[in-house]
Amino acid sequence: MAVQLPDGYKPGLEGVVAGTTGICEIDPAIDALIYRGYAAYELAQQALYSEVAYLLLYGKLPTVAELEVFRDELTRERVLPPFALKVLKSLPKKTLPMTALQIGIACCQTYDPDVENYSVEANLAKAKRLIAKTPTIVAAISRLRDGKPPIAPDPKLSHAANFLYMVTGKEPEPVVAKAFDSTMILYAEHGYNASTFSALVTSSTLSDMHSAVVSAIGTLRGSLHGGANRGAIEVLLKIRDAKKVESWVAKALAKKEKIMGFGHRIYKNIDTRTPYMKVLAEETARRIGDTKIYPLAVKLEEAMKREKNIPPNVDYYAAVFYYLIGLKKEIYTPIFAMARMAGWTSHIIEQHAHNRLIRPECVYTGPRGLSFVPLIDRK
Ligand code: COA
Repeated sequence: MAVQLPDGYKPGLEGVVAGTTGICEIDPAIDALIYRGYAAYELAQQALYSEVAYLLLYGKLPTVAELEVFRDELTRERVLPPFALKVLKSLPKKTLPMTALQIGIACCQTYDPDVENYSVEANLAKAKRLIAKTPTIVAAISRLRDGKPPIAPDPKLSHAANFLYMVTGKEPEPVVAKAFDSTMILYAEHGYNASTFSALVTSSTLSDMHSAVVSAIGTLRGSLHGGANRGAIEVLLKIRDAKKVESWVAKALAKKEKIMGFGHRIYKNIDTRTPYMKVLAEETARRIGDTKIYPLAVKLEEAMKREKNIPPNVDYYAAVFYYLIGLKKEIYTPIFAMARMAGWTSHIIEQHAHNRLIRPECVYTGPRGLSFVPLIDRK
């Protein structure tokens, strides 16, 4: 059937404007990523994740007093309902970490006192609980996968330091905690990316924040989106030897393979988050004396530039950094989710405050005019 596609039809909604937002501005023409008016790279260098989460949720940077209250709220909310931990412990060992995260969030929903209250105040309260509890869930998932018992949050530690402590059982060095915190800031928000968009679609039906976040986690998991950070380290570990980069890339490109951690739907010259991610990975490599994975990553970046002129995206050096600080690849994408929680929940609040059902149309390409044949007569 010849199908007439409407003018302006864009597969994958490429370039389609699907809404307005006061949260994030992306301008690839000037390599800019802006959170509520502030350059994301500047926030990553100078602020802490808790300040950025406040900025995204409330629309302004906090004062000292406001940040203190906000941090106290987050710290108090880190603990999981005992039922959630019980469920996480009872999951089959092969449960995908992002599925376990969805289950952990769904468990928290069953305990949340404001599930079906969509006022800005109630949504803010839920957002804070989600931002606070998700690291506890991710750390528990990480330890349970290794056959170790989860560790309770330490209220004395910052958001990032506490997460690393709950994963490893050791308080991280301040330099590692700060660098990890910076990666979370770079991951915190990115406009109408696929996972945020799926959260918006869910919340636009007047479904609740936890359900929208569960949708977003399912969307983030895919290798073309957040799953790429795990994919990127797998590529590097597969290549292993810097001398093999050229031949590996040539073979992969000849087979038309997508190399994880490269390319972006919006950024074609540079992913504005990558340079600072690269600095964090490079500084860490230098500090710990890594002579393997970081140089290999740089070599692959150069080969991709030469062969396809495709730059690395945010996930590429995030993966290198997480590897260098000793985190297991299975939790790289859950870490992305726990960082993006501030962005997702801010967008859900914005959506609920000005809701209109998101319901696009599609062009039918199937058959028409068929005559019904009763079941018994069908061949
Ligand atoms: N490796 C190899 N080639 C790639 C590539 C990659 N990672 N990303 C894009 N390309 C190539 C495509 O093969 C295509 O080449 P062609 O024109 O010769 O066929 C061209 O670049 C355009 O790619 P396309 O897939 O149409 O771009 P897109 O806007 O739909 O895709 C991504 C964006 C992110 C889906 C894509 O770059 C990708 O799959 N990257 C790997 C996964 C990843 O890192 N995702 C995280 C994004 S933050």
